[in-house]
Amino acid sequence: MIATELDSATILIVDDNPTNLKVLSDAIVDSGWVILVATDGETAIEQAEYAKPDLILLDVMMPGIDGFETCRRLKDIETTSDIPIIFMTALSNTEDKIKGFNLGAVDYITKPFQQEEVIARVQVHLKLRSLSRQLAQQNQLLEEKVSERTSALQTTLKELQESQLQLVQGEKMATLGQLVAGVAHEINNPVGFIAGNLHHAEEDINNLIELVELYQQEYPEPPEKIADLIEDIDLEFVCEDLPQMIQSMREGTKRIRNISVSLTTFSRSDHAAKVPFDLHEGIDSTLLILKHRLKANERRPAIEIIKEFGQLPEVKCFPGQINQVFMNLIANAIDAVEETNEGRSYDEVEKNPNRIILHTEVKGENAVISIKDNGKGMTDEVKDKVFDHLFTTKPVGKGTGLGLSISRQIITEKHGGKILCETAPGEGTVFAIEIPLE
Ligand SMILES: Nc1ncnc2c1ncn2[C@@H]1O[C@H](COP(=O)(O)OP(=O)(O)OP(=O)(O)O)[C@@H](O)[C@H]1O
Ligand SMILES: [Mg+2]
Repeated sequence: MIATELDSATILIVDDNPTNLKVLSDAIVDSGWVILVATDGETAIEQAEYAKPDLILLDVMMPGIDGFETCRRLKDIETTSDIPIIFMTALSNTEDKIKGFNLGAVDYITKPFQQEEVIARVQVHLKLRSLSRQLAQQNQLLEEKVSERTSALQTTLKELQESQLQLVQGEKMATLGQLVAGVAHEINNPVGFIAGNLHHAEEDINNLIELVELYQQEYPEPPEKIADLIEDIDLEFVCEDLPQMIQSMREGTKRIRNISVSLTTFSRSDHAAKVPFDLHEGIDSTLLILKHRLKANERRPAIEIIKEFGQLPEVKCFPGQINQVFMNLIANAIDAVEETNEGRSYDEVEKNPNRIILHTEVKGENAVISIKDNGKGMTDEVKDKVFDHLFTTKPVGKGTGLGLSISRQIITEKHGGKILCETAPGEGTVFAIEIPLE
């Protein structure tokens, strides 16, 4: 409250004695303060609630409720509780003065009144009230500033954590990518070598078989040594089996080739710009990388993978990052179904097998890929946090809580898409990714 505010303060005088009221008003009216009067406690409280004076001068002895009770009630009402109250009391009555202070009064003045004293005390208390109001305001401002700063700092921290996360993951994926690409490359040479020679081997074998058959025609009665060997090695079977063996070797090399292509697809380093990418190829190559986790083991049969692939055009994206998302989601699904196996026997799992359904389709302007598992599902509490940085329910060493937070960043920030989750405890989980086609 600045000087003018102090000057225009409102003061409520409460006294049942009209002479006292007059003397007091006369004493302070020259100071420019607005003066309200009340002659009993009840009216005083009503006035105080309505007019919200800056200060109350309150007589102790009044008919009806006395000054002390009036004070108590004023302190109980929220809107009047902080109005300073000065008691007016007889000079000699020390007990009353103490009682007044105990009830929350800020001061007292004694009757008969000294004009200068009344004005001085009123001024002091108006000033005090104004200062404490300023202080409260400053305090609030300060608190607002502090909380603003804190939230700014929190945002910065979150950004830092995210970029650190991106760096670490990027580094990890780049290393994995290089490794995989290196392995694929090293496999390609020997496989090419085998595949190339298989063709010649087949020709040679066919020639040899032809030759043997010709011998048998021309010399139907071979010498005993040869006849024994023919029987020992079961020549007839060998001649039938060899071409089949070659055929299966050819099939084998073909598969190794596919694996190698998939590995290369998986590790495709990301270019500066988005490139058209066959998402199904991405899913297949990811499944290949995770194959060791899907196949049967001594505790359970293989996890069933059901592909419900629709017609998807190539989608412009960063293939390495999208594969990373597939990898995170499918790995989570595997973890979730495996957790339901705990405490179930092999036979029980076999009757109700672990299953992951990979569904793709075009919906509106988006390619939609959903990954559905019949795993343990999630409570609402977990579901609300799955995309949080570092949130995990897995034991230390198994989960870091980064997978989904990174995946969301890749889908929403890098590709302008969406990633959604639907789940219930014991009901399994579906994660759906939407990637804009354009
Ligand atoms: N398919 C799912 N079924 C059930 N719970 C899941 C599934 N996917 C994720 N969750 C829950 O969300 C949490 C966070 O997943 P997220 O992939 O971010 O981290 P994580 O798998 O624990 O660790 P990592 O960083 O190794 O991926 C998991 O710990 C798990 O509780
Ligand atoms: Mg994970």
